[in-house]
This record gives sequence, C-alpha cells and structure tokens, in this order.
Amino acid sequence: MAKLIVRGGTPLKGEVRISGAKNSALPIVVAACLAEGESVLENIPRDIDVYTISMILKKLGANIWFDDDSRLHVVPDNLTKEKAPYDLVRRMRASFYVAGLLLARLGKAEVPLPGGCALGSRPVDYHLKGFKALGADVSIEHGYVRAQAQELVGAKIYINRSSVGTTMNLMLAAALAKGTTLLENAAKEPEVVDLAIFMNSMGARIRGAGTDVIRIEGVESLKGTEYSIIADRIEAGTFMVVCGITGGDMMLTNVVPEHLRSTILKCQEAGLEIEEGPNAIRVRALRRPQAVDLETAPYPGFATDMQQPFVAMMAVAQGTSVIRETIFDRFRYVDELRRMGADIRVERDTAIIRGVEELTGAPVVATDLRAGAALVIAALQAKGETEIRGVELIDRGYEHIDEKLRRLGADITRISDDEESRHMESLMSTFSELG
Ligand code: EPZ
Repeated sequence: MAKLIVRGGTPLKGEVRISGAKNSALPIVVAACLAEGESVLENIPRDIDVYTISMILKKLGANIWFDDDSRLHVVPDNLTKEKAPYDLVRRMRASFYVAGLLLARLGKAEVPLPGGCALGSRPVDYHLKGFKALGADVSIEHGYVRAQAQELVGAKIYINRSSVGTTMNLMLAAALAKGTTLLENAAKEPEVVDLAIFMNSMGARIRGAGTDVIRIEGVESLKGTEYSIIADRIEAGTFMVVCGITGGDMMLTNVVPEHLRSTILKCQEAGLEIEEGPNAIRVRALRRPQAVDLETAPYPGFATDMQQPFVAMMAVAQGTSVIRETIFDRFRYVDELRRMGADIRVERDTAIIRGVEELTGAPVVATDLRAGAALVIAALQAKGETEIRGVELIDRGYEHIDEKLRRLGADITRISDDEESRHMESLMSTFSELG
C-alpha cells in the first residue's frame, strides 16, 4: 500500500484550486452514455473513482478518454453490452448508476449487487423499488441485479430518505421513458442539480432539481453535448478545515460558495474568518478552533462527507463538541484519531470530542475516503511524524491531495510501494488499451 508521511505543525498558506466534484462527475459520465454522439466533459477530476466508472463503461462498449488534465470525452455509440463486470463494480458503489443507464438505453441490465462497504450496509432497495415502479422486472440472481423492461413508463415515485444515489439513478432510468415521472422526496444536493442541468443540455426534460419534487418528461433521444461540472464542495470544505487546524491563511479558487453554506457557517462558529467572492473563498484561522456541535443531514444540512474532516479539527478545539451522524455508520476511524492522542468517545451515532491542545504523530490506517482525509488533517497539526496507510482510498476522491498540500507549505511525502505502483500501472494501461 502507498503511504503518506506527514510532519505537522506548519500553518498552511497560499492559493489552492478546487477540482471538479467527484460525486457529480460519476453520474454525469454515466449520463453521457445515454446520448447519441460525443460528449465533452470539463473539470473532471482524475480521481480513482472516475477511472473506475470510465473503465466499467468502456467494458460495456463506450469509448472514453482524457485529452488533457481535466477534459473527458465520452462516445457511447457502441455501448451494447448489458452485463457490468463484478471486479470493477465491487470497488465502488456509485457503479450502480450503470443499472439506470442500461435499463434506459438497452431495456435490460445485469449489474452486481453492491456488497457491504466501510460505511455500513448501504442497500440499494430504493433504487430497485424505483425501477419496478417504472415497469421493469427486477430480480436478484447469483449476486447480480437483473432488470428488464420492454418499455419503461413514467410513474410517481416516493424516494425514502431523499437518497442521492436513488434520485440520480431514477433520473437516468426515466429520461427516455414513455410519459412523465415524478420523483417525490428527491435529494436536493448540488450534484443532483448538476446532473439535471447536464441531462437537459443533452435534450432531457427535467424540472424541479434542487427541490424535493423532480419532474422528468421522457424524450425520444438525447444528443451528446459539452459541459463543465461544478466544483467539489467536499474538497473545498476539507481545505477549509485544513486551514482551521493549522492556523493557516488560504484562498480557495474554483468554488461555489452557496454550495458550502453549512460548512462555512460551522467553520465560522469554530472561529475561522471567511470572506466570500463569486467563485473564491478566503479562509483565515487567527486562533485555536472553538468547539462546535452539529449533526449531519441531507443538503442543505451539514454533509455527512464533511463529518470526519470536521471531527479532526474538533479534536484540537477549545472545549467539548458533540457531533451526531445521521446518514451512515461512519465513526470507525475515530480509533485511529485516538492513536494520535484525540479524546473522543462514541455513543451510538454521536461522537463526544474533548479538544486536546496538540495531537501526536503515529502510524495510522485510512478506513475509507473521508476517514483518510480526517487523518491527513489531524497529521498536519500533530507533533512529529504520522504515517498514513491506505492512501489509495484517499485518492478515490481527492485529486493530488499531497501535491496541493505541499504547495501550501505542508511537509508531506508520498511513498508508493512496488505493489501499489504495479496496480496503478496496470489500471492505467488497461484504461488505455480499452480506449
Ligand atoms: C451519496 O451516496 C454520495 N456518493 C456519498 O458520498 C454521500 O455520503 C451520500 O450520498 C450522502 O450525501 C456519491 O454521490 C457517489 P444515499 P449514496 O443514497 O447515494 C440509505 C463520499 O465520501 N439508503 O443518499 O449512496 C443509505 O444507507 C461518498 O464521497 C437505503 O437504505 O447515499 C443512507 O443511510 C460516500 N436504501 C441513506 O439512505 C437505498 O436503496 C442516504 O444514502 C439507498 C440508500
């Protein structure tokens, strides 16, 4: 496994450009495969997850390639296979978006049922209920979800718990259906709105994205288009917290401040000075962070993906913070923060964090993407050296995190071992061969 070696204690200063949003890129690359003709997608981050979804789509017959740092071309005309490969799908739950795509495009889909993951059980029952409501026959056989429909027909679907993945998968499935689909209690996340705007630019008729009722009028066909995706609000929030914990002064560029409202408010409550421009945010930490209580919630509430980074900052805050996680089972990583000297007690869905003055470097392991980010944040404050294993999990959703931090003055080094390099090389060469 690759490792990051971090020596903490330096206030991080300077400008950092935030990448495109991973959680927009994934469904948008899939949605591009609903169209006839080429789509050119800008601001796509070179995260491992983006490579994984692209590889799955290539295996299904699409042609996909990056032409420079962030522009991805998608030509789906030969996408004719309906069976998604288990080895790739099992790596990432968002792969399940191909079920909605295949059902809409080919009228049949065979996609491995996502297994458990580090965030708990994460079922796809709402997705399947939605496919059935649109008229598909759905069964689970030999670990695969098989869905088939002569014709998908628009329907009124109530989505439990305003699930982001379900909302997006049903937008994909319903775009070419006959008649109108109403998604009630739909997710309101900015990434859902981004997907709707992109699909409408391909000729879809989707209204109401960003509210809790989305109306999709099925159209006959969609055409490839050009589109630039939104900035990653979770990466931006992560850098705000890095600034807070290191006593830094940063300018975050290529951001949408409105998407960061709950994070900005909680960072201000913790004592950070924040100034907003039209697509930039200046963050300054002039004193030790103050303890803040919060609970995670669907957008516009405080994002579950920001919970772990924020807990890392609260680990050194003045006072005691109480943080409740309402979306996933997402506190396993606190054992690793405790190894760095954090004083955190977890009771069911709530972490009680008594801030300490300073963390201490230790060997730790990232258990998932945002947990890995939390360890990097903690390490940047900690006295001495922290060795973080499991970096490939962090690379799933943060583009060049070590390079970006180094440019802000962090003492951070990546050590790739041979096995990791071989895995990356084989991933990249398969990616090119398939293209
Ligand atoms: C998306 O996951 C994001 N992933 C997650 O980001 C994010 O944490 C999550 O939304 C919540 O904001 C992507 O966009 C690729 P959900 P998703 O369906 O769509 C339950 C990251 O770190 N549920 O909104 O899978 C579910 O268990 C990732 O970038 C069902 O019970 O989340 C959860 O409790 C991790 N049955 C709740 O709903 C279902 O069929 C909300 O999950 C679907 C969901």
